[in-house]
Amino acid sequence: MSSPHAPLLAALKGDRCSPPPLWLMRQAGRYLPEYRKVRSGVASFLDLCFTPALAAEVTLQPLRRFPLDAAIVFSDILVVPHALGQKVAFVEGEGPKLEAVKDGAAIAKLTDENAAVHLAPVYETVERVVAELPASVPLIGFCGAPWTVATYMVEGAGSKDQAAARGLAYREPETFQHLIDLLMETSAAYLVGQVEAGCRVLQIFDSWAGSLPEDEFERWCIAPTRAIVDRVKAKAPDIPIIGFPRGSGPLAERYASKTAIDAIGCDTSLPVGWIRSALQTRLPVQGNLDPVLLAAGGPRFEARVNWILETLGEGPFIFNLGHGILPETPIEHVERLVALVKDAPA
Ligand code: CP3
Repeated sequence: MSSPHAPLLAALKGDRCSPPPLWLMRQAGRYLPEYRKVRSGVASFLDLCFTPALAAEVTLQPLRRFPLDAAIVFSDILVVPHALGQKVAFVEGEGPKLEAVKDGAAIAKLTDENAAVHLAPVYETVERVVAELPASVPLIGFCGAPWTVATYMVEGAGSKDQAAARGLAYREPETFQHLIDLLMETSAAYLVGQVEAGCRVLQIFDSWAGSLPEDEFERWCIAPTRAIVDRVKAKAPDIPIIGFPRGSGPLAERYASKTAIDAIGCDTSLPVGWIRSALQTRLPVQGNLDPVLLAAGGPRFEARVNWILETLGEGPFIFNLGHGILPETPIEHVERLVALVKDAPA
C-alpha cells in the first residue's frame, strides 16, 4: 500500500517531524463521556474488549475529538492471561482481579491451545477500525510485556511492589521461566495477529519493569522482550515496535540497545535532557509528560510541554504522556495540549 504521509511512521523511521506526532497512552477511556456511555451499556469491561463493534467504536472516539496521529486498539494487557485460561475480572473501583497462579502446578494448567480463537474478536476490532481510519493515522496494536503480565497473574491483582512475582522468580526461577516463556510465545503470536489484521505499529507495555534489579531486569524484562521482537520481526520485518519499560531509570539505555525495539517510550521520571543525550542519539523516543500535570493544567503544564518540545523536538520524537491519561483529566486540557504541540514553532 502506498502510504500518504503518516507522521508517526516517519518519526519511527527516524525522521524529525515538525510538529511531532502526538498520541496519548490510554487515550480511549473514562475521561471521555462518550466512553463512559458505552461502558455503562455493557456488563463488564472484558465484554467491551471482546465485542468488536463496541471496542472499535471506543477506539475511534478520541480521534473524533482530537487530531491525534495514532489510534490504539481498545483492549487490555490482561486479555492474554484470560486467553491462557486464567480467570480475570475487572472489579469496579478496584481494578483487575485474577485467580492467582502461585506455583508450578497452577502454571502448568495454563495453555495457549485456545488463545487464537479467544483473541479473534480483538483481530476483528482491528479490521473494523482500520476500515475507518485515514492512511495518515496508523493503528497501534499492543501487548503487555511478559514480566508485567506475570506480576498480575502471580499476585492475582495489581500491587505496589510486585513482591509475589519477584518472590516466585527468586525462589523458583525455572517455574517462573516457564510462565514467562508461555507469555512470550503467546504475546508474540498475538502481536503478529494484530499486524495481520491491519495494525501498522506495535507497543509492548512493561509497566512494572522498574521493580526489577539489574540481573533480574536482564532476565525477565530484556530477554523475553528481545524474544518477542525477534519473533514478530521474522513475520513482520517492517512493523516498528515501541518498547515502554516504565520505571527502568538508567537501565532504559540497556533495554534500548539489547531488545532491538525501534523506539522507546519514556516515563515521567526520566529527565528530559538525559532522554536526549542517552536515548534519542540512538533511537526515536516517545514521552514523557506527567499525566498528573495534564490533569492539573495551568502555567506549569504549558511550560513543561514547551520544555519537552524544545529539548526533544530536534530529534526523532513522538509526543506522549509518561504513563496513561487519568480519568479525571478535563477534556479542555487535552485540547490545549493538542494546540500546544501542533502549533509549536518549527
Ligand atoms: O486507549 C488505550 O490506550 C487502549 C486501551 C488500554 C487499556 N489498558 C484499557 C483499559 C491499554 C493500552 C491498556 C494497557 C494496560 N492495562 C496496562 C499497561 C499500561 C499502564 O497503564 O501501565 C496495564 C498495567 C493494564 C492493566 C489494567 N487494566 C489495570 C491495572 C486496570 C485498572 C486500572 C484502571 O485504569 O482502571 C485496567 C482497566 C482498564 N484498561 C480500563 C481501560 C479503559 C478501565 C476499565 C473501565 O473502563 O471500567
